[in-house]
Amino acid sequence: MTALSFTHTPNANPASDADRAAILADPGFGKHFTDHMVTATWTTDAGWHDGAVTAYGPISLMPSAAVLHYAQEIFEGLKAYRHEDGSVWGFRPYANAQRMARSATRLALPPLPEEDFLASLRAIVEADKAWVPGPGESGEKSLYLRPFMFASEAFLGVRPAAEVTYSVIASPAGAYFAGGLKPVTLWISEHYARAGAGGTGAAKCGGNYASSLAGQLEGAEHGCDQAVFLDSSTHTYIEELGGMNLFFVTKDNRLVTPELTGTILEGVTRSSILGLSKELGLDPEERRIEIEEWKDGVRSGDIVEIFACGTAAVVTPVGELRWEGGQAPSTAGEAGGEVTNAIRSRLLDVQYGRVEDTHGWLTQLA
Ligand code: COI
Repeated sequence: MTALSFTHTPNANPASDADRAAILADPGFGKHFTDHMVTATWTTDAGWHDGAVTAYGPISLMPSAAVLHYAQEIFEGLKAYRHEDGSVWGFRPYANAQRMARSATRLALPPLPEEDFLASLRAIVEADKAWVPGPGESGEKSLYLRPFMFASEAFLGVRPAAEVTYSVIASPAGAYFAGGLKPVTLWISEHYARAGAGGTGAAKCGGNYASSLAGQLEGAEHGCDQAVFLDSSTHTYIEELGGMNLFFVTKDNRLVTPELTGTILEGVTRSSILGLSKELGLDPEERRIEIEEWKDGVRSGDIVEIFACGTAAVVTPVGELRWEGGQAPSTAGEAGGEVTNAIRSRLLDVQYGRVEDTHGWLTQLA
């Protein structure tokens, strides 16, 4: 049942058709935003209310708003895909709704009911349907949807906020990495961990991403594109990249990924790839993986491909691994291995409705 409804006040100054077409021709990632946004408010007294679709624009907050001090904030990321017949579809939006509810519980925010989450996605996609690109020449253009929720109460005491704002913004997206499908070089973050046991690592909260940035910067100083984070207690087991999960393909067709220990984000793309593995002739394996297994595996030939995955970048080949005083070679060639690219293509084929959706992963949004 949908409890929340959304009023619609159209943007009085939407982008012109020509401006929108220019953006959709080369959207990049996270740089351009559509004409509208969704907002809703929660208070302890009234629950969720005041759902609205309005013009995209600044949010007014008191400087004392709790989110600015204590980071009580969560977000989601999913894409809307335009199919050949013009209809627009979400990929596993209920999985995002459920994860957002889990993140909310962990951050002591009020979970938004699943159907309200879906209604908010439909509201923005209907308002900004013209902003949903087809796959385009990069083969992966879409409208990235960014639902988020934060403590908007003006109060400096440390307790769960009594007023919370929910919003959805939308951003036309092409390839996440400017270099396209080029393999990414990774840096082992040996000093900085992203998350610890009992912490918020499995929640999609801004704080986890903030805590990944120093490791990311250290990697960039060593010429790497991204950092790999290890478990915080032993610094031996591979966790994730901060914004993406990792997969290893072995020479005997196993598809291995770090198991969910509570400190790793439960990626929707990660779970979808595990779901597709059998039909691609791979044996999925979720377990702890030592960083030494990576270094040894690429040298011995036991590991034949490595890739990272997430909603934003889909599937990205991983190249060289570097650390203080060492490096392990790339297995990715110029543009990733066969298995990496087969998984990427299969996912995109499902998302754009080019193959039968045998898993029931697509939901029509407009
Ligand atoms: C995603 O791939 O969905 C991510 O989480 C990356 C995003 C934070 C840009």
